[in-house]
Amino acid sequence: MQEMKDNLLEYARMNEQKQYVEKIRSLLLQEGGSPLAYIHSYGCQQNVADGEKFGGMLAEMGYGFTQLPEEADLVLYNTCAIRENAEQRVFGNVGALKPCKRRRPDMVIVLAGCMTQQQHVADKLKRSYPYVDIVVGTNSWEEFPRLLYEKLALGRRYIKEGEELQNAPVIEGIPLRREGRLKAWLPVMYGCDNFCSYCIVPYVRGRERSRPWQLILREAEELVRDGCREITLLGQNVNSYGKGLADSINFAELLRRLNALPGDFIIRFMTSHPKDCTRDLLDAMAECPKVERHLHLPVQSGSDRILAAMNRRYTAGQYLELVRYARERMPDLAFTSDIIVGFPGETREDFEQTLKLVQEVGYASLFTFLYSRRSGTKAETMPDPVPASEKSRWFQELLVVQEKIGQKVLEAHVGKTLRVLPEGVGRSGPGTLSCRTSGNIIVEVPGKEELVGNFMDVEITEALNWALAGRQTDGKK
Ligand code: SAH
Ligand code: SF4
Ligand code: F3S
Repeated sequence: MQEMKDNLLEYARMNEQKQYVEKIRSLLLQEGGSPLAYIHSYGCQQNVADGEKFGGMLAEMGYGFTQLPEEADLVLYNTCAIRENAEQRVFGNVGALKPCKRRRPDMVIVLAGCMTQQQHVADKLKRSYPYVDIVVGTNSWEEFPRLLYEKLALGRRYIKEGEELQNAPVIEGIPLRREGRLKAWLPVMYGCDNFCSYCIVPYVRGRERSRPWQLILREAEELVRDGCREITLLGQNVNSYGKGLADSINFAELLRRLNALPGDFIIRFMTSHPKDCTRDLLDAMAECPKVERHLHLPVQSGSDRILAAMNRRYTAGQYLELVRYARERMPDLAFTSDIIVGFPGETREDFEQTLKLVQEVGYASLFTFLYSRRSGTKAETMPDPVPASEKSRWFQELLVVQEKIGQKVLEAHVGKTLRVLPEGVGRSGPGTLSCRTSGNIIVEVPGKEELVGNFMDVEITEALNWALAGRQTDGKK
């Protein structure tokens, strides 16, 4: 009952926003031009998916889109706060807009996303970036149209002051401007409750909220009907999908139900937290032919001591046991992972345990990060005695180790025939196609552009140093 009431409330609020969308539309029409918007989303796929909502709203208001910020009437940066260098990049790019704004004072600059959710960032923007017009957070869907209207009609600047995320509802029904037709992001949950000690996400994205499975299924059906071939389910921790829903199913069951939808399409998902990765989920992956054979399972470290300090709530042994079971069910499963080097207090021995684990798993590829101190997190105050130069050496060492492993994983594909999805023209130019295996590895194949979007069988002929090369075996397509 409460859920119904909340939904009605949200619906009423979104309807109110629709009035502002209309008001902006007529304002822009009166001004006679066809204004252009530039949107850039930094950070993870969730942020990219949020950027598609901003795009959808701006399109409804009458904006066209450009790839060039300097020619845009509205620039929106959807920011990321995961590491310090991500934040510096945003400040750099916003700084670069200053001369544009001086030339064209009507240009509207909007900042949204994770970075703005931190009070010290909002303060800095308020103080030192007077040419930024609107700052909203990570859940601003129900006020963005009004804020933009107030800026355009009344010249009112708005800098958010700590957006309330504690029980923020998932707002449905926002129009989307998707990046492409072939592949789509489909968020299944928002926020994170895990509080890994290094991570800012729970603070800037709020508590876990899942979308009702009925809406997810409906969205997937519509996507497939419109020609989508690859759906990637998104969440900071998809394995805890369903928590708190009145009519709840778990993530494994969600995969099974999506797999049962008609149509020729594939399903990927990210990210899985190892502590919640159950045998049920791995069994569902193994049973569902539409679910691809790739598991991104961030391990972060191979040392139990560091894993405990990170508050990851699993040991290296438990992680390896999961990998073992997953491989038993799916011998062709490709693993990828995230690793942090230089967490506070990490020693050479801890790091060597990470190297050992990386070798044992045999990842197809790794996303490696140097630890970055985030304000307000638990790790912020932990003693961090290892010098940056030493951490960088370890980091390089890990890259070298992984490069060899990744190459071996690629080489093991040679001679196999695999079903792949051609996604676009290949790196080698027209006449080649860039395709992806079930394990999410790129294969470059000779072929015409018309074949993009049609699954095909290819024989892998060679392991290049960045991808695979192959040739089509089912020539009739
Ligand atoms: N929810 C996902 C990760 C999202 S962030 C998960 O738990 O797997 C993506 C990656 O960024 C993390 O897996 C971690 O490896 C890295 N990361 C997060 N905070 C970091 C920090 N403070 N410094 C360096 N890397 C960090
Ligand atoms: Fe960050 Fe951990 Fe949540 Fe991932 S699970 S978003 S690393 S707190
Ligand atoms: Fe960055 Fe926010 Fe994603 S901090 S990684 S954009 S959830």
